[in-house]
Amino acid sequence: DEYKELMNITSPFHINVETLIHVMQVMENSIKMGLDPTTQHKSDLKMIPTYVTTIATKREEGDILALDLGGTNFRTLLVKIRPQHDPVVISEAHIVPDSKKQNSQELFRFISDVLKLFMIRNKLDLNKKFILGFTFSFPCQQLALNRANFLYPTKGWGLQDLIDHDVVEKLQECLNEKQLNVRVTALINDTVGTLIACGYKVPSCKVGIILGTGTNACYFEDISKIQTITDTTVLPLEATQMIINTEWGALGDSGCLDFVVNEFDREVDKVSNNPGKQIFEKLIAGMYMGRLAAEVLAVLMNHGIILKAQRGHQESYRQYSPFWVLYNLQTSHISEIELDTGKTFANTRTVMNKLGLPQASDADCAIISYTCRLISRRAAMLTAAAIAVLMKRLRGSNKVCIGIDGSLYRYHPRFNMIIQRHLKTLAPVLLDYELHISSDGSGIGAAIVAITADQERQKLK
Ligand code: BG6
Ligand code: GLC
Repeated sequence: DEYKELMNITSPFHINVETLIHVMQVMENSIKMGLDPTTQHKSDLKMIPTYVTTIATKREEGDILALDLGGTNFRTLLVKIRPQHDPVVISEAHIVPDSKKQNSQELFRFISDVLKLFMIRNKLDLNKKFILGFTFSFPCQQLALNRANFLYPTKGWGLQDLIDHDVVEKLQECLNEKQLNVRVTALINDTVGTLIACGYKVPSCKVGIILGTGTNACYFEDISKIQTITDTTVLPLEATQMIINTEWGALGDSGCLDFVVNEFDREVDKVSNNPGKQIFEKLIAGMYMGRLAAEVLAVLMNHGIILKAQRGHQESYRQYSPFWVLYNLQTSHISEIELDTGKTFANTRTVMNKLGLPQASDADCAIISYTCRLISRRAAMLTAAAIAVLMKRLRGSNKVCIGIDGSLYRYHPRFNMIIQRHLKTLAPVLLDYELHISSDGSGIGAAIVAITADQERQKLK
C-alpha cells in the first residue's frame, strides 16, 4: 500500500547512531592522513594550513577594508578596530551575477569596481593607503597569509582559469589596475573568518563552522601535528598552534562515504557542475538540500503517492508540469516548511502555493513535510558527527566555543536542535563546549587577520 511505499522510498534517509559513528571513524582517519603527506593514501580532506596562529590580542588598531566572497552575498566592509573595543563595521551586501563567477579576471575586476564605489560612497580618501583582508570561501593551498593558490571551485562556481594561481596576486593586480591604493595583506577561508570574528568576543573559540551554501570547518591544531606546513620561517616564533581549514565538504570523494550516499544523492551529484566532488557537502549544504528533496518528491509523485489529483491521462509523469515545478524547491523553502508544527501544514501549503502547486492536498502536504524533515534531519545528524570528531581532537582543552555561521544554520528552525541532541550522544564526555552563532560575518575576521599580518610585517622590518 501507499504508506509502505512511502516508507520504502524514503528509507535511505534514515540513519542511526551506528552510521554516525562509522562516519566519525572515516573522518578521523581522513584527518590523520590529511595532516601527514607521507601517508600512502591520499586523503579526501585537504587539511590546509592557514598560517593564522592566534586569535586577536585586542590590541590591534586601524581602519581596515575587507571583502567577503563566496557565500550567498558578496560583502564589502570597512572595519574600525580599536583596542579593547568591539569593531565598528560599515558593510554593504551585493550579489555576484552568475556571469561573473566563471572567469577570474572578470570576477576580480567586478569586485574591484564594487569596492571602489563602496569607498567613494563612504567618503574614504582614495589617496590614503588601506590594507585589506579577503575572505575567499574556496579551497586554496596557502603558503603564507598573503599567498594562496586556488585549488578547485566548489558551490557551482567556474573559475577554472584561476586553478593553481595565487588569488591574492590576481586580486591585487585588478585593484592596482583600478588605481586603488589598497594592499591585500591576508586571504582567509570563511570558516577561519568565522572563528576569528567569534574569537574576538569569546576568546575560547577554537572551531569555526559554515553551514550555508556550502559546508566546511576549521579548528586550532598543534603545529607539531601538522606535517604539511611548507615554510615555518613565516610563522611568529611563539606560535604553537595553527588554524587548519579541513575542507570537510570533500569527505567521501574517494568513495569512503558510500555507506551513506543513496540513489537520490547520486542524482544530485550527477546533475551538479562538479560530479564526484564535495560528496559530504552535497549531503548537507544549502546549495543541494532543496534539489535533494525535489528528487525524492519527484519519485513519490511518479509512484502516485503525492500530487496525483490531476495527473489524469498524461502518458508520462515527466509530461506532468508539477514534476518540473518541484525542481524549483530551495533549501529556504525547506526551512519554511519545517516551521510547521502540529498537523496543519500551513507553511507547507504556502510553499506549495509559491511553487505553483495549489492542488497539493492536506495529505500531500503531510508527506512533503515529512520528507523534508527526514532529509534535513540526516544532514544535521551528519554535521553533528563531523563536529564530534573535531571535539575529540580538542579533547583536553578547557571549555571550547564553536563559532557557526551560514544561512542553513541561521534560518533552519531545527538544525541546531538536532545537532545539539546528537552531540550529546556522540560526544557526551569529550569536551565542555558551546555552539555560538557568529552573526558578525567572516569579513570582520578577515580584517582582524589583515591587520595582524600587517603588524607582524612591520615587526620584521
Ligand atoms: C556569511 C559569512 O555570514 O556566511 C560568509 O560572512 C560566509 O563569509 C557565509 O561565506 C556562508 O553562508 P551562506 O549561506 O551565505 O553560504
Ligand atoms: C565550500 C568551500 C569552502 C567553504 C565552504 C563554505 O565547501 O570549498 O572553502 O568554506 O564552501 O562556504
